[in-house]
Amino acid sequence: MAKRKAELAPSLLSADFGLMAEATKLVRDAGLTYVHFDVMDGEFVPNITFGPKMVADLRDDAGDLVMIAHLMVAKPERYVDDFAAAGADVVTVHAEATPHLHRALQQIKAAGKRAGAAVNPATPLGVLEDVLGLADFILIMTVNPGFGGQAFIEGGLAKIARAREMADASGREVLIEVDGGVKSDNIRRVADAGADVIVAGSAVFGAPDPAAAITELQSALDS
Ligand code: DX5
Ligand code: ZN
Repeated sequence: MAKRKAELAPSLLSADFGLMAEATKLVRDAGLTYVHFDVMDGEFVPNITFGPKMVADLRDDAGDLVMIAHLMVAKPERYVDDFAAAGADVVTVHAEATPHLHRALQQIKAAGKRAGAAVNPATPLGVLEDVLGLADFILIMTVNPGFGGQAFIEGGLAKIARAREMADASGREVLIEVDGGVKSDNIRRVADAGADVIVAGSAVFGAPDPAAAITELQSALDS
């Protein structure tokens, strides 16, 4: 099998919310493929961020970037269509946030978007077994969701490897996205464990020079 090349997906959570267009253009101008939107409702996670209008308002600035809407919201079915209409390319819901994960993924696909299924650190991968025929992305949380700047949960590496095996055994193109605590000193290990898309929030937008931080992360990835 051709060697996979993991790609960086900066998260705007750590960007200045007053400068989101600039942050989005910085990701676009870095020549990256993905940008990650962390949608938080204050119920599923303790934090609150933004809704579908943020995606809509940044759609033009994003250009050809693949916009991933990571919905850390309870009952995400309520918002799937709004994020699809706003221009998200991928909508990711948490297995823990709905009793009807399969139907939520069907709903995302019916809206013409790619579907992601996310699991928190304590959630076993087994909950995803029966949606591998539907999901386009599996999102492995390597921090407990809600905030940027947290420490990477090392046990996540083995979980990424298991998710990789599951995805490869599915016979479908299922991308593994990894999210939380990724820095230049662990990004290579995350990629080697089997990640296809690697989120970095504070490592990019918490840095004094986000463009340089992207270059550093990219070179760590390419090393
Ligand atoms: C956490 C979010 C992550 C977060 C990553 O709930 O899902 O995407 O923004 O931020 P860092 O890279 O700073 O851990
Ligand atoms: Zn996220």
